[in-house]
Amino acid sequence: MLLRTSRQRGPFPRWDFLFALPLLAACSLAQADATELVTRLCVSCHGEGGNSSAPAIPRLAGQQADHIAKQLEDFISGKRENAAMAPFLAQIQAADITGLATYYAEQTPSGPRPRGNKKAVAAGKRLYEDGNTRTDVPACFGCHQPEGAGNHRYPRLAGQHAAYTLAQMKQFKAGTRSNDKARIMRAVAARMSEAEMVAVSEYLATLP
Ligand code: HEC
Ligand code: HEC
Repeated sequence: MLLRTSRQRGPFPRWDFLFALPLLAACSLAQADATELVTRLCVSCHGEGGNSSAPAIPRLAGQQADHIAKQLEDFISGKRENAAMAPFLAQIQAADITGLATYYAEQTPSGPRPRGNKKAVAAGKRLYEDGNTRTDVPACFGCHQPEGAGNHRYPRLAGQHAAYTLAQMKQFKAGTRSNDKARIMRAVAARMSEAEMVAVSEYLATLP
């Protein structure tokens, strides 16, 4: 007891911290790697900090890390297909996925948000929050959270390009995107009209 106290008070720091150094070094290395990969392989399409300005290319800034990681795994395994991204994903390793997902999840969403068509935005908000009881479309809100924020289980939808969101809904409905577990989104999209898909996509694009 006496010995310990005198060591703590002594002029030298305790040695335990040395064991933490390799760990810290490894963490910052992983961070640097993710930034390097993003700059070399992703920024040309997904934009600075994941704030893509191209309507067909999803914004990744602030997206849930778990969602990004799952999508990257699905693209790599072929469960989700995208010809544009394939040659770039061929250059990453499975071990890079967590770093890339964390990098994008930590970026701040920014960039202009459209105002959208007033009627469509209002109809989209209603559908998002209440669903359509007549046709059994569930409220998106229940899974994707208030204001499209998402959580560790469900992707963030807020501020996404309307054209991208609409394209995903159509793909779920047609079954050309089929990487949703338990067919959740295919079942939702199957019940939606095209007008509803347009409305909800326009509404989501207006959110910060
Ligand atoms: C040539 C352009 C291009 C490059 C380069 C590119 N992407 Fe993509 N990415 C796309 C497109 C287009 C989509 C949407 C595909 C679709 O419509 O299904 C997409 C989709 C994604 C998604 C799914 C987003 C979601 O919300 O479901 C993730 C995650 C992603 N890209 C990450 C990356 C990462 C990480 C890199 C770099 C290693 C990268 N992309 C490089 C074009 C690109
Ligand atoms: C029961 C839960 C649930 C409900 C209700 C739900 N979703 Fe989803 N949604 C999910 C899950 C889970 C995913 C992720 C699928 C995957 O792994 O690719 C998803 C993915 C999506 C995507 C793709 C995001 C991307 O960038 O890849 C869009 C767009 C979407 N949902 C829109 C909606 C809309 C619009 C509604 C309401 C009409 C809705 N969802 C209702 C669970 C749900």
